Amino acid sequence: MWIFYSADDSKCLFSLWNQWCLCYAAVVCLLCSPVRTDDACPSSCVCARDSGTVTCRDGEDTEVPSDIPEWTSTLIVQGRNISTLQRGAFMTNSTELEMSKLSLSYNGIQVIEPYAFLGLPRLHLLDLSHNQLESISARAFHGLPELRSLFLNYSVLPVATAQLSNALSAQTLRNLHRLELAGNQLKSIPLVRLDMYNLHVLVLINNSIERIGRENVTNLYQQRHIRVYLSLNPFWCDCELESFYYWLKNSSQCPDAGHLLCSEPEAKRWIPVEKLRGEDVDCMNENLEAVSYVFLGIVLALIGVVFLMVLYLNRGGIKRWLNNIREACRDQMEVYHYRYEQDSDPRLANVAV
Ligand SMILES: *[C@@H]1O[C@H](CO)[C@@H](O)[C@H](O)[C@H]1NC(C)=O
Ligand SMILES: *[C@@H]1O[C@H](CO)[C@@H](O)[C@H](O)[C@H]1NC(C)=O
Ligand SMILES: *[C@@H]1O[C@H](CO)[C@@H](O)[C@H](O)[C@H]1NC(C)=O
Ligand SMILES: *[C@@H]1O[C@H](CO)[C@@H](O)[C@H](O)[C@H]1NC(C)=O
Ligand SMILES: *[C@@H]1O[C@H](CO)[C@@H](O)[C@H](O)[C@H]1NC(C)=O
Ligand SMILES: *[C@@H]1O[C@H](CO)[C@@H](O)[C@H](O)[C@H]1NC(C)=O
Repeated sequence: MWIFYSADDSKCLFSLWNQWCLCYAAVVCLLCSPVRTDDACPSSCVCARDSGTVTCRDGEDTEVPSDIPEWTSTLIVQGRNISTLQRGAFMTNSTELEMSKLSLSYNGIQVIEPYAFLGLPRLHLLDLSHNQLESISARAFHGLPELRSLFLNYSVLPVATAQLSNALSAQTLRNLHRLELAGNQLKSIPLVRLDMYNLHVLVLINNSIERIGRENVTNLYQQRHIRVYLSLNPFWCDCELESFYYWLKNSSQCPDAGHLLCSEPEAKRWIPVEKLRGEDVDCMNENLEAVSYVFLGIVLALIGVVFLMVLYLNRGGIKRWLNNIREACRDQMEVYHYRYEQDSDPRLANVAV
């Protein structure tokens, strides 16, 4: 028994000693290592320490600057030829950055690899506008639990639309407040669900959305705090627009509702969607009209058939009737003839009087 205790004690002591050693070593290391000078600014960038902003414009580099200072709260990289945003592009020696805003617009980015934004746990705003994204990993936005604004204006090529939808389904985007997707030739809302986000603003201006179906409208009604911007889309103003039309009118969830225009059918082109009448989008009405014409046709056809049948069934009677008429006529004629002959005889006229 006693021996065991002793062994345990010595193990304990040993581990304590070990920890002390490690701690001491770490302190010594920290003191001796060449600490990154806080003033260092990445080459071809401009640093404003007061505002925590690092701006890197129009360099020859084809990558994100690797030596981003730790104090950076806003990083702006613009006009560079970054064709691929690589995994962990912002990880410097596996340290996390406290950056809150990252703007990567106009960099010709075509590919976003999985976990590209790893190491940015405090990022609030990410601007990827005006790139040429043709491949977006489903895990592109993983590791961004605090992201509130994501801008992807004029950036997503049609080949990447489905991938965008997958990437935006990431659980880590659940705090997203504002999503801007203007000018991406989108044909539908690229979100599978709305209830997983905390979205307040969804910008879909200048896309290729022709209709928003009943299912989507139901989801929009359920997310009461969401505002959806939809101007400059080519809406099809037929009766399938009904639920969307009433959503526009009743919900006030579309701040630019007054600017939505019909593009089809030809007869309604450039008419504001809001100015349509209820009957224009009423499928019931349209169907009823078609049904009533068909019904009228059937009734007329039936009447015609009945008329022909009556004629056919009575062909004997009709012949008799015609004969009767003919005979009656002949009789009449004969009577007339007789009278005429009588009248024309002057001798008989006197007798008659
Ligand atoms: C951008 O870089 C790629 C290679 O990474 C190159 O093929 C392309 O020509 C470059 N484009 C411009 C505009 O410099
Ligand atoms: C990253 O670590 C390597 C060694 O692992 C070192 O040479 C380099 O200076 C470090 N870079 C920064 C920015 O700390
Ligand atoms: C697009 O993104 C920018 C941010 O770069 C934002 O300021 C702008 O309002 C967005 N919307 C449109 C429709 O361009
Ligand atoms: C709409 O987007 C197209 C490109 O998709 C662009 O050429 C056009 O200028 C945009 N229109 C407006 C009003 O922003
Ligand atoms: C919109 O509707 C389509 C199909 O009608 C569906 O796949 C998609 O999940 C819906 N999205 C939302 C946000 O309701
Ligand atoms: C919207 O308004 C129309 C007519 O004004 C009404 O029939 C419909 O029930 C309303 N829908 C909602 C969800 O309020």
